[in-house]
Amino acid sequence: GLVVGSTVVSAGVLHRHGDGAAAPLKVADRLEPGDAVTFDYPGEDDRAMAIRLPDGTLVGYSTVCTHLACGVLWRRDHGADGDLYCPCHEGQFDSRTGEVTGGPPPRPLPRVVMAERADGSVWAVGTVRSGEETLTGVCRTLRDP
Ligand code: FES
Repeated sequence: GLVVGSTVVSAGVLHRHGDGAAAPLKVADRLEPGDAVTFDYPGEDDRAMAIRLPDGTLVGYSTVCTHLACGVLWRRDHGADGDLYCPCHEGQFDSRTGEVTGGPPPRPLPRVVMAERADGSVWAVGTVRSGEETLTGVCRTLRDP
């Protein structure tokens, strides 16, 4: 298990705290540059994606389009960082920031805060909505028991 504050969680099972806030979720054993993985975070209906950009930067976003909630995809071959693309109405978002770069979406994609452990495993550790990090203090640190 993983110790978060004083709580031991079973990785990949518990990803909400009792108050509903996001808790750490392991999303991949390893993510190489150019790879992406989708997962639900923090709940079953909260679709998300982690992307290792070609330069090694790790980013995470909700994949629920801010226009009409279609699923957003990562197009690796569009520009140096690829782009996030919504096929419903051709919405486009910057892979590095989540900002809208084209089409009708009114807002950036909400960010999912990602972390990497020494063993290379990749974790979702919190969410950012409207610029407000909902990441709790205890979730900033991932450590083994
Ligand atoms: Fe994504 Fe319309 S739902 S662009």
